[in-house]
Amino acid sequence: MTAKLFEPLALGPLELPNRIVVAPMCQYSASGGSADADWHTQHLMTLAMSGAGLIVVEATGVEPRGRITHGCLGLYNEANEAALARALAAARRVAPKGTRFGIQLAHAGRKASAQLPWQGGQPLEPEADAWTTVAPSAIAFGDGWPDPRALDDKGLATVRGAFVQAARRAAQIGFDAVELHAAHGYLLHEFLSPVSNRRNDAHGGTAEGRMRFPLSVVEAVRAALPAGIPLGLRITGSDWVEGGLTPADAVQFAAACKAKGAAFVCVSSGGIAANVTVPFAPNYQVPFAERVRKETGMTTRAVGLIAQPEQAEAIVRDGKADQVALARSLLDNPRWPWHAAEKLGVDLDYPPQYLRVKAKLWPGAKLARPPEARGGGVIGPSEIQLDGKTTSCVR
Ligand SMILES: Cc1cc2nc3c(=O)[nH]c(=O)nc-3n(C[C@H](O)[C@H](O)[C@H](O)COP(=O)(O)O)c2cc1C
Repeated sequence: MTAKLFEPLALGPLELPNRIVVAPMCQYSASGGSADADWHTQHLMTLAMSGAGLIVVEATGVEPRGRITHGCLGLYNEANEAALARALAAARRVAPKGTRFGIQLAHAGRKASAQLPWQGGQPLEPEADAWTTVAPSAIAFGDGWPDPRALDDKGLATVRGAFVQAARRAAQIGFDAVELHAAHGYLLHEFLSPVSNRRNDAHGGTAEGRMRFPLSVVEAVRAALPAGIPLGLRITGSDWVEGGLTPADAVQFAAACKAKGAAFVCVSSGGIAANVTVPFAPNYQVPFAERVRKETGMTTRAVGLIAQPEQAEAIVRDGKADQVALARSLLDNPRWPWHAAEKLGVDLDYPPQYLRVKAKLWPGAKLARPPEARGGGVIGPSEIQLDGKTTSCVR
């Protein structure tokens, strides 16, 4: 039986070699929105070599005030475009054949103008070059956070235009897929959620009203992208807040996005308000993906506390999602897909420079993997064999 995790998948018009996705991960290492020549290049090259079929570049602000922090990537000017193009080209050079690259386009809304996480992640003080944030309604994210300015019609058009322009830039520098960030409490999610959207105009109130602006962005970005580039979204399976978004809302929004030409969704959750308790557990967001997939027929990605090869394989094999995204598992171990292939009995292509670490060529592989990754038990030197001959592991 072959592993479903390593079977190809069509993401709309885009063919992916397998179902493992590198989830977008902010690096907070950009300057003026531009990728850092060293950090982003090594980061993306490392993940590119991982063997994951799709690498989604971190949340990238479509305008300066849409960045979470001063260190967030942006794609709103030519310098941003050139810096990201360089990092992407380097990553492509080392990626296995067929690896695809996507980018997550984002606007942080009322959660923008924040400190880097390792500096506290709190709202920037005025002397730290803080900026005025925008949102559907002038309601702060939480205690100590500033009131954002509610966007008017002109402001909505500006933000939508910025998404379109950034999508054009993404296509121009060669991204294969575009994902809109409509989760984690950022601007598009802020419009969708009754927690943050208290408008009483056409962009608030009913679910239809709250979806209007995000859907207009989906429509405009879809129209701006070449047909060969699939557009998808990261959406919210639950706000985990009384009166907030629920899995039924995720289904409704995904279906509406599909009708506007979106090809895929990644179903995440949380982030709309401070001090919310999220019941973290393995696969905790998978039921949301499963429901969205079942009820919309959309290509769906599951994410969140997926760390074991068998766990990932079961999600796609059992039809709970079409693909899985891993964030921390891949930061922790960028060779995760290699080891998953080994565990699931799949022969993956390695870069020739690293070929000698393949388990069938390297006796040390048995020593290197934790017992649970190789099926349990402590191994002794006698078990380490190459071509039928016992190989001493201490030279
Ligand atoms: C360092 C880091 C940065 C992240 N940045 C983003 C981001 O840019 N966009 C996003 O949608 N999620 C972001 N996330 C969330 C991940 O994409 C993912 O949804 C979450 O970590 C759960 O998956 P995991 O359990 O595999 O880590 C980030 C997570 C981490 C650990």
